[in-house]
Amino acid sequence: MYENKAEAELYDRLYQDRKDYEGEAVRVADLIREHKQDAVTLLDVACGTGLHLAAFAKCFDEVAGVDLSAWMADLASERLAGVPVHQGDMRTFDLGRTFDSVVCMFSSIGYLRTTEDLDSAVRAMTRHLADDGVLAIEPWYFPDTFLPGFVSTHALKDGDQGISRVSHSTQEGNVTRMEIHYVVADADAGVQHRSEVDHLTLFSREEYENAFRGSGLTVEYIETELGRPGFFVGTHSDRS
Ligand SMILES: C[S@@+](CC[C@H](N)C(=O)[O-])C[C@H]1O[C@@H](n2cnc3c(N)ncnc32)[C@H](O)[C@@H]1O
Repeated sequence: MYENKAEAELYDRLYQDRKDYEGEAVRVADLIREHKQDAVTLLDVACGTGLHLAAFAKCFDEVAGVDLSAWMADLASERLAGVPVHQGDMRTFDLGRTFDSVVCMFSSIGYLRTTEDLDSAVRAMTRHLADDGVLAIEPWYFPDTFLPGFVSTHALKDGDQGISRVSHSTQEGNVTRMEIHYVVADADAGVQHRSEVDHLTLFSREEYENAFRGSGLTVEYIETELGRPGFFVGTHSDRS
């Protein structure tokens, strides 16, 4: 996933058009401040190309990011002058410091394959949390909220380039198999087609909650708009 510059750039172009990054960042900043009104620092784990980070930078004094893909992290660094963006795995990263808030957006945690990995990732994020800090994770769907057969489409025109994306998702045990096809029409390069298959684990609500509790956090699940997977919010309520 995102193993070269072209894939990272296609994601960046498509998702700027497809998602309301600014609105989502403002809502998550509000959620964080419900728990910690004076939060001024934020770490975005699996930050991708930095589209949320650009918006978070308007809400917090200091932001930073980490992503597994060096290509995604590079695009984030190019977008965000002066913002540290690290290449690292959410299960094992160690930046040697803490933040008032740590977030993991757009179901990126669903790319992990086992509950051991889920536990490791939540532990690693919690190690980066100040004593009175807030951890907010947007999960993937749960086994009972995922809709097998889900179809998604998006198309955009940007100058001399047209991009379309369609996907079809099925359920295989506790995994979503998402087949995605991209067609890009470019004035010079002509029409190119690419496809990928992503696997996202359908961890249960209890598995997420166990991961938070196992890291010493109190956890609450917040439902968001209909059809979206919601948010888990964790705090060290006993230490604040
Ligand atoms: C769907 S994209 C979301 C990116 C960004 N948060 C956004 O909202 O645009 C998923 C991201 O998770 C990253 N990712 C997947 N597995 C990861 C891991 N184990 N550690 C850190 N990042 C990971 C990918 O490289 C990718 O950038």
